[in-house]
Amino acid sequence: MTYEHILTRSEGKVGIAQLNRPKALNALNRELMAELIDALTQFDTDPAIGCMVITGNERAFAAGADIKQMAGATPVSMLDNPFIDYWDRLRRLNKPIIAAVSGFALGGGCELVMACDMIIASETAQFGQPEINIGVIPGAGGTQRMTRAVGKTLAMEIVLNGRFLTAAEALHHGLVNHVYPVEVYLEEAIKLAQQIANRAPVAVRLGKEAVNAADEMFLQAGLAHERRLFYMLFATEDQKEGMDAFISKRPANWQGK
Ligand code: CAA
Repeated sequence: MTYEHILTRSEGKVGIAQLNRPKALNALNRELMAELIDALTQFDTDPAIGCMVITGNERAFAAGADIKQMAGATPVSMLDNPFIDYWDRLRRLNKPIIAAVSGFALGGGCELVMACDMIIASETAQFGQPEINIGVIPGAGGTQRMTRAVGKTLAMEIVLNGRFLTAAEALHHGLVNHVYPVEVYLEEAIKLAQQIANRAPVAVRLGKEAVNAADEMFLQAGLAHERRLFYMLFATEDQKEGMDAFISKRPANWQGK
């Protein structure tokens, strides 16, 4: 399928979606988000794909929700339209998603990045929640996920004073996995995605679910959830294959079953 606001392609087992509104610094309007979720949902259900990458361009991953589209909104129009729900729908996808970020990742763009599972940044990446500058606060998870990622006091500065984090700061505070030169950050993100895509698919899926549970549940419930997922994996052929391969000192041949 061809889209107007994003580009899609696959490399090996990796599905790649590139935000493509460069003149607006990839501002996230309703149409772009609908296309993005459609493309990612197709990758998520495609057995040939094992991991996904979302990226922008060198100057901007995304400079936030589209302020021009949002300016006339009312509480009721916000309740009636599903715009912010797209961030939740991304979070509910089963396969891992890596954000490959260069330049601005601001507002809804930063929230999109934080709804992904791993973050690879270029040295020029900047992360921020500058909604305070336009008289609002983050509305797609920014106050919650940023606080969990970097801690309360720094999150306060980011949310209340519009402070941006450089790539180096984001790495230092644990927001991102790796920082690479701008020439190779996307290639490195795809490389990581290929590695994950070549692993046992059911275990990858349940591993993602279990780690997300740590963010979203209290410890006792999270531990119980993890235990059930762990036991469930003993019903897969890949568990038998993986353990037999280890004992027989040979590479495993994953079936995704
Ligand atoms: N929405 C709509 N258009 C945007 C945009 C946004 N979030 N961010 C940038 N643009 C547009 C600009 O309007 C401009 O378009 P025109 O050429 O037609 O005027 C174009 O992109 C280039 O932007 P600038 O000229 O401003 O570029 P700059 O290099 O001078 O500044 C910037 C870059 C600091 C990122 C600045 O564009 C900026 O502050 N953008 C807004 C960031 C922001 O507030 N994001 C939060 C949005 S609200 C949100 O996301 C809510 C939520 O939680 C879901």
